[in-house]
Amino acid sequence: MSEREKRFDCPEAAGGPVCTPEPERARISGSETVRPEKKSFAVDQSVTLAGVCMKNPVVVASGTFGFGREYGQFYDLSELGGICCKGLTLHRREGNPPPRIAETPMGILNSVGLQNPGVDAFIEHELPELRKHELAVIANISGSTPEEYGVMCGKLSAAGVDLIEVNISCPNVKAGGLAYGTRPELAAEVTAVAKAHAGTVPVMVKLSPNVTDITEIARAAADAGADALSLINTLRGMRIDVRTRRPILRMNTGGLSGPAVLPVAVRMVWEVHQAVDLPILGMGGVSKGEDAAQLMLAGASAVAVGTACFADPYAPVRVRDGLAELAEEQGLARVAQLTGGVLPW
Ligand SMILES: Cc1cc2nc3c(=O)[nH]c(=O)nc-3n(C[C@H](O)[C@H](O)[C@H](O)COP(=O)(O)O)c2cc1C
Repeated sequence: MSEREKRFDCPEAAGGPVCTPEPERARISGSETVRPEKKSFAVDQSVTLAGVCMKNPVVVASGTFGFGREYGQFYDLSELGGICCKGLTLHRREGNPPPRIAETPMGILNSVGLQNPGVDAFIEHELPELRKHELAVIANISGSTPEEYGVMCGKLSAAGVDLIEVNISCPNVKAGGLAYGTRPELAAEVTAVAKAHAGTVPVMVKLSPNVTDITEIARAAADAGADALSLINTLRGMRIDVRTRRPILRMNTGGLSGPAVLPVAVRMVWEVHQAVDLPILGMGGVSKGEDAAQLMLAGASAVAVGTACFADPYAPVRVRDGLAELAEEQGLARVAQLTGGVLPW
């Protein structure tokens, strides 16, 4: 692991544990984190995403929370609405060589490359642990062929996950990945195969922001039977060390996430919400309640917190509370009333 990755101390970079757990306080990337005060709210925080009921609209984004084991040492995962698990592939993957994480102004670039234990190991070792908590378990999958997506959906459906998030937007793998998310006909093919094998488990297709018109892909997935859409995945980016003239990441390019991408995410959720009649899990740069509220007003039914978890393991809890506080301030009976509530000029 490089010094840069060590300093960032993120699960993906380390290929395992998320961060050194010290139950009350954690020091990550130079920041000090304190457990938030317990608050209670009168507002109803429950939401439904593709028929899946969640006690609140905050889930954690795939690849930023592992399978929850390490964060579970900070707080009970039942505090969350759900978890999008680390991206799974049919077989175990080591991921890309380091350096694969680099900080940027207001975000990070990563090229982790779907390091994961494989779908069978997830079902055997991780799913039973997650089932000890009360939260929606969302399995995130990536395949090199449509058939691989089908096989994984069959296994996960039989294992009884709550939702399957079909990642057609990973910028950090050579085969499949982003190609499926940038061509409508391929997005439709993967969605149809996933649906055909997912049984009664709803299928949520994760869209890439690395396209000219995200509504084209959203429509293709919707027409092929998707039950929900999630967006956005990371934006392709690059950093260069001007002295060595080498790209900072070993893979040269990576995916940008964190606060820098929030306005892009809000715009894309807004566009997709107008284009298709499907529930949306919105994500990209959320680190506080107001960020989540923006995504919901743009059309998201629920939101995911990703990169913010690296700097503050409690970020999802703070986002949840901030969102509830804001809904109460606005006199809403339900947080869900924010969805689609933007008043465009
Ligand atoms: C280190 C890292 C690993 C990621 N791994 C995955 C993954 O395995 N599958 C996936 O669909 N998205 C993955 N993502 C994308 C996130 O789930 C999310 O879509 C994106 O980071 C935007 O949200 P954020 O700005 O809150 O992080 C990853 C992101 C990061 C930063």
